[in-house]
Amino acid sequence: MRKPLIAGNWKMNKTAAEAAAFGEEIRPLVADVEAVEMVICPPFTALHALGARLRGSRIGLGAQNMHEAPHGAYTGEVSAAMLKEAGCGYVILGHSERRRLMGETDEQVNAKVKAALAAGLRPIVCVGESLEQRRAGETEDVVVGQVRAALRDVPQDAAAGIVIAYEPVWAIGTGETPTPDDANQVAAVIRSTLAGLFGEEAAAQVRIQYGGSVNADNIASFAAQPHIDGALVGGASLAPDSFARIVRNTEAILA
Ligand code: PGA
Repeated sequence: MRKPLIAGNWKMNKTAAEAAAFGEEIRPLVADVEAVEMVICPPFTALHALGARLRGSRIGLGAQNMHEAPHGAYTGEVSAAMLKEAGCGYVILGHSERRRLMGETDEQVNAKVKAALAAGLRPIVCVGESLEQRRAGETEDVVVGQVRAALRDVPQDAAAGIVIAYEPVWAIGTGETPTPDDANQVAAVIRSTLAGLFGEEAAAQVRIQYGGSVNADNIASFAAQPHIDGALVGGASLAPDSFARIVRNTEAILA
């Protein structure tokens, strides 16, 4: 059975002090949660402060991006080993904001995925279609292409540690979502793509999240879908109470 993963993507929000306050508040709210894995991905500058507050809890730490090179002349960038040392277990890669605003390509995402895995980080690989692509009926082609490109030359024995986040670009931060059934169908296509790459057994172990305007009220409808294993949550992960309710509502459907 795949354990659902609820991951908070804070984007460029919260100072270290604000992250520390979140850490204090969230702990008692989810202290007894066992059936759902939790991770928070704050800005780099808050990793240390949040990590210190989460130590000994069941909430893991993740980053929102990294560079593919191990070290060197890449001003402003951070490597996988640096994230690992900072306490990260996960790293979000290929988020649509990075693809769109920072020009990140499929090739770069692929290099980052391989570098993350080599360093012992679990990548949360983001894929998803734009509104234009959805209207043109290209959703499945786009998503399959992104998955294949991101995972090119990834060794089969690393596959189970990968998380795919299906995030339709038009659903991010807009309050709009696909229907849970629609999202599940895309997740099913992603899983069969993974089966083609790594075999059925490995594909059955990969967690596929839904992301895009997830909140405490709609999480259950997505997490209840057979191919959806939790969510990547932006805005609704910023308040401890909201994040905790999303986790609890995910846990409730497993009972
Ligand atoms: P949102 O963002 O939940 O605020 O829509 C999701 C994401 O970008 O990962």
